[in-house]
Amino acid sequence: MKILSAGLLGLKAEVIEIESCLGGGELGLFSIVGLPDKSISEAKERVRGAISNLGLKFPKRKVVVNLAPADFKKYGPSYDLPIAISVLSNLYTFKKNIQDSFFIGELSLNGDLRHVNGILPIVSFAQEIGIKNIYLPFSNFVEASLVNNINIFPIKNLKDIINFLIKGVELKKTQIFPEIKKEIYYPFDFKNIRGHFQAKRALELAVAGAHNILMSGPPGSGKTILAKSVVSIMPPLDSREVVELTKIYSVAGKLGDKKIIYARPFRSPHHTASPSSIVGGGSWPRPGEISLAHRGILFLDELPEFSRVILENLRQPLEDGVINICRVFGSLSFPAKFMLIGAMNPCPCGYFGDKTKTCVCSKNQLDNYQKKISGPIKDRIDIKINVARLNINELSSFQEAESSSSVVKRIIIAQKMQKARFANLDIFFNSEINHETINKFCFLDVKDQFFLKKIVEKLDLSTRAYFKILKLARTLADLRQSEKINRQDLNEALFYHSGL
Ligand SMILES: Nc1ncnc2c1ncn2[C@@H]1O[C@H](COP(=O)(O)OP(=O)(O)O)[C@@H](O)[C@H]1O
Ligand SMILES: [Mg+2]
Repeated sequence: MKILSAGLLGLKAEVIEIESCLGGGELGLFSIVGLPDKSISEAKERVRGAISNLGLKFPKRKVVVNLAPADFKKYGPSYDLPIAISVLSNLYTFKKNIQDSFFIGELSLNGDLRHVNGILPIVSFAQEIGIKNIYLPFSNFVEASLVNNINIFPIKNLKDIINFLIKGVELKKTQIFPEIKKEIYYPFDFKNIRGHFQAKRALELAVAGAHNILMSGPPGSGKTILAKSVVSIMPPLDSREVVELTKIYSVAGKLGDKKIIYARPFRSPHHTASPSSIVGGGSWPRPGEISLAHRGILFLDELPEFSRVILENLRQPLEDGVINICRVFGSLSFPAKFMLIGAMNPCPCGYFGDKTKTCVCSKNQLDNYQKKISGPIKDRIDIKINVARLNINELSSFQEAESSSSVVKRIIIAQKMQKARFANLDIFFNSEINHETINKFCFLDVKDQFFLKKIVEKLDLSTRAYFKILKLARTLADLRQSEKINRQDLNEALFYHSGL
C-alpha cells in the first residue's frame, strides 16, 4: 500500500510515495531508504516511540520504508505521520480508502502531531493536483485553511487517525472553522513624524510607483522612523498576495502566532548579517530577508557598510522580483519583490552638510564613502533625498501631520491608474517601464521636452538618470490623478531624483 505525502524544494512541492515492507532478519531493524536527509533518520525513533506508547503493535521483523521518487531529496520531520501509517499498514487492515489523500506531520513520542513548516505550499499543491483529503497537524490548520476546494483534516494525535483508518471512527473535517482575525497593525504612522514634509512626500512617491529610495542624513535625523512608517502607507495586500507571502513565511518557519500574514512586511537586516541569511540559501535552502520582505519593505540601514557580495546579490531580485538559488540537488527560486529603502550617513562622521555640527572627514574619506554605493544598487535607486536634523522649532511644532490612512488613499488611486495603463503588459508600476515604451507612457509636450533636454545637458545627466526622472514624473502625475505629465511634475521629479 502506498501512502501519499509531499516534499518541498523551496516553495515547489512534489508528491512523495511512502511504502514499507517487513523482511526477515534482525529483530527491530528499521531502515528508511530513498535519499532521506539525516533529519529523517530520526523519524525512526519517533515513529517507533509513538506507536509503542499508544499501545499499538510494532512489527517484530525488520521494517524497510521507501520514500519515492528516490532522486528527490527529502528533508525534515513531516514524513513521520505517513511513515507511521505505512508501518502500521503491514499489521492492520484499513477500512478507509486513502488513495487520494496526503498525510503530513511530525510525531512526538506520545503520538501528538506537531507543527511542521511549509504546510501552505503543500496544501495548495495538493488542491491543484486533485488530492481530495489532507491530514495535517492541528496547529497548521489556520494556515492550511487559506486553500479552498480540498478537505482538510486537522489531527491532534496519531491515535485519532488510526481509529479512523482501522475502526472507521469518523474524523471531523475542518472542525471549528478557525476564526481568522485579519490583524493589520503598523506601529509607526506618518502623523507621528514631525516635520520632514519632503521626505514623506518622497516616500509617498516611492510607494506609489514602486521606486526604490535612498535617504541620506546625520544620525538621529529620523531616517529609521521614516523607513519604519512606510508600510503604513502601502495599500493592503490582496488575497493572492496574502497567500504568496504566507507561503514564504511558512517555509521559513516564521509564521509564529500570526499563522497568516496580512500585513506588509518590514525587514531590516543588519549589515553584518551573512549573505545567505539576507539572500536566502543554506544547506537546506530557506528564504532570506529579501524574500521575507516580499511585497513590503527591505530597509538597508547604513547601506555603504553592506558587503559587495550582498549588494551584488540584490541585482537579480531588484530586476526580476525573484531570487534563484542553485544547489547540487537542483535549483529553486523564491519570490523577492520588495521596495528597497536605503539609509546612510552623508559621510563617515555623519555630519557632512549639517547646519550646526562640523564634519571632520577628509575629502578622500568622503569620496570613498560615497563611492561604496555604486553599480547595481545605484542604478536601481530612483529617488535620493537628504533627511536633515530638525531644528527645535520644527520638533516642537504642533502642526498636525497627515495620517498614513489619508496618504494611502492617493497611493491607491495612483496604483489603479498604473494597473489600467499596463493592463496588457507584464508590469505593474511606473518604475518598471522599459526604454522601448518610455516615450509612450511618459509623454511630454514639446515645451517640456525642450525644458528637460536643456536641464539634462546643463547638469550632464546620464541616460539612466533621464529615464528615472521621466518615470518619477509619471508617478507624480498619477498622484495628481492626471494622465498628462506637467512642468511641476518634472521639477519635482528632478528634485527627488538627485536629492538636491
Ligand atoms: N521627525 C521626527 N518626529 C518624531 N520623532 C522623531 C523624528 N525624528 C527623529 N525622531 C525620533 O528620534 C529618534 C532618532 O530617530 P531615528 O529615526 O532613529 O534617526 P536616524 O535613523 O536618522 O539615526 C527616534 O527615537 C525617533 O523616533
Ligand atoms: Mg537609524
